Amino acid sequence: MAEFMYSRRFYNNPLIRRMIRFSRNAVDVRDSLTDRRICGQSLSKFVPAVAAGATGSQSTPYSVLDTVFRSAEFSEDNAFLDIGCGNGRVLAFLIKKKVPCPLTGIELNPEVAAVGQAWTKRYPNAAVICGDVFDIDLNRYDVFFMSRPFEPDLFSRFLQKLEREVHHRITLYYWVDQQSGQLLHNRPGWIMHERKILFFRRGFFIAMTPQQYSVWTYLPHEA
Ligand SMILES: C[S@@+](CC[C@H](N)C(=O)[O-])C[C@H]1O[C@@H](n2cnc3c(N)ncnc32)[C@H](O)[C@@H]1O
Repeated sequence: MAEFMYSRRFYNNPLIRRMIRFSRNAVDVRDSLTDRRICGQSLSKFVPAVAAGATGSQSTPYSVLDTVFRSAEFSEDNAFLDIGCGNGRVLAFLIKKKVPCPLTGIELNPEVAAVGQAWTKRYPNAAVICGDVFDIDLNRYDVFFMSRPFEPDLFSRFLQKLEREVHHRITLYYWVDQQSGQLLHNRPGWIMHERKILFFRRGFFIAMTPQQYSVWTYLPHEA
């Protein structure tokens, strides 16, 4: 049954698609309640992309983040960056998990960044920068998350920037890596630790089609 659920024949069926959409809405409602407890407001609002090659501001479901960060261990010495943080859902998740290190998000779309900047004020270790990730020094961070912030061409440019600037070991949690993840394969210095496809979590569909994540470390000295 699980195999059939991940097939195109299943999720392209119009009736099934209606059911999945209903399930996705239920996930949004449940996640909005969690957002309100942490941030005082829902973080589910979607704002379309503002720049060529960038994606819209869709927030990642908490059930997905639970899986993606399942084996993560943070210390006070880490410095976390969500690349294209949208409304700040990932920062909210890590605050809920009482992660002790500085938590930063960077968001290109000013309208979206304003949401995260407003609610993170109440948490001293969390902040949102309104700006372009291509304009900041990536060497300040050692744990990165991205939820497909950009299309493959930009991802390729981003990797070149990261490899130029970073001088220490980093970890990258990459949610929705189907399109661009292959650019990391056989790339000097990059090691994949985990890769998994997610579709159905805790009784609900988390997206309209199955989505994949991977966890990587980059060791600059081995590149
Ligand atoms: C799919 S959302 C992810 C939101 C959040 N990370 C999450 O998982 O809940 C991707 C976000 O990346 C932002 N983005 C795209 N290109 C960017 C760039 N060059 N610098 C900063 N943010 C960017 C988009 O504006 C969008 O809000």
